[in-house]
Amino acid sequence: MIIRTRKPSDVPSSEITPEDVYVNRRRFIRDAAVGTAALAFAPNVLDASESDPRQQVPARFQNMKSELDEDLNPYEHITEYNNFYEFGAQKEDPARNAGDFRPRPWTVRIEGHVNKPGDYQLEDFIGPSNMEDRVYRMRCVEAWSVVVPWRGFPLSDVINRAEPTGDAKYIEFKTVVRPSEMPGQRTRMLDWPYVEGLRMDEAMNPLTLMTTGVYGMDLPNQNGAPLRLIMPWKYGFKGIKSIVSMNFVEEMPRNTWWVQNRREYGFYANVNPEVDHPRWTQARERRLGELRRRRTLMFNGYTEQVESMYAGMDLTRWI
Ligand code: MTE
Repeated sequence: MIIRTRKPSDVPSSEITPEDVYVNRRRFIRDAAVGTAALAFAPNVLDASESDPRQQVPARFQNMKSELDEDLNPYEHITEYNNFYEFGAQKEDPARNAGDFRPRPWTVRIEGHVNKPGDYQLEDFIGPSNMEDRVYRMRCVEAWSVVVPWRGFPLSDVINRAEPTGDAKYIEFKTVVRPSEMPGQRTRMLDWPYVEGLRMDEAMNPLTLMTTGVYGMDLPNQNGAPLRLIMPWKYGFKGIKSIVSMNFVEEMPRNTWWVQNRREYGFYANVNPEVDHPRWTQARERRLGELRRRRTLMFNGYTEQVESMYAGMDLTRWI
């Protein structure tokens, strides 16, 4: 019999390492390790840095800013502090445990209310001409934030290709299930597969990105290789990783965190500083790598591009 572990929502906040402590601790450990190794094994250190993606960040990102003139977070903040329960519940688990995951070859099943269902290869969607860099502010429901130069293409490209019928009101997305490569899936921490959903207009919004990379390079496994969703006006848990299925459905999908605890994680999950999470405020946030707290912006600062989709909805009820 499988012993049920504690739900992530049961973890008291005292057990969660604040991200600045975590990032600084990691940096200290890394710098100390590199410093020691450099003295003893200089050639190996040089070899390691050649294959280290942190050293390969293309120059075009050097002075890039968000449209609110914010600095980008460095590569290691984005790739070493993650939520990806398939690889464990702690922030450092995905980077540590995702090494055996194989993101190629990759097939995405498209089904439901569409004229063109089928199994599509990743290469059917992506090509040299449709990839773009997009700097997005990301806000996690746990009240930390990060500015990321994602690489990807509009989700609407995929949707238009699938030709949804009038009965398609939502899209339900699923993550791959591979317990042999994903140690978290050998536990019952969450119900697998991880599921997310978007209403059709949210999915078609030009901001909604099918993401394949970060800092101009392929997504590392811990960030959801080879294909994940990013909607910058929603809390990070909507950004489902390692997607293998898109089902065009009529009813609102039952997404993983809604099933887990619907009072704390509503289906819409729009960033809203005016509605507190039941256990903490959402009015402020901490940018990874900073100590001070910033004021959280409505729709994470993307109001102009998204608010019309929610006109007439009571956003204290439809969280
Ligand atoms: N997708 C899957 N399959 N499994 C997960 O646990 N976590 C979500 C989201 N997508 C998650 C997932 C949460 S809670 C967040 S905050 C973001 O991924 C984190 O994305 P990042 O690690 O790239 O910052």
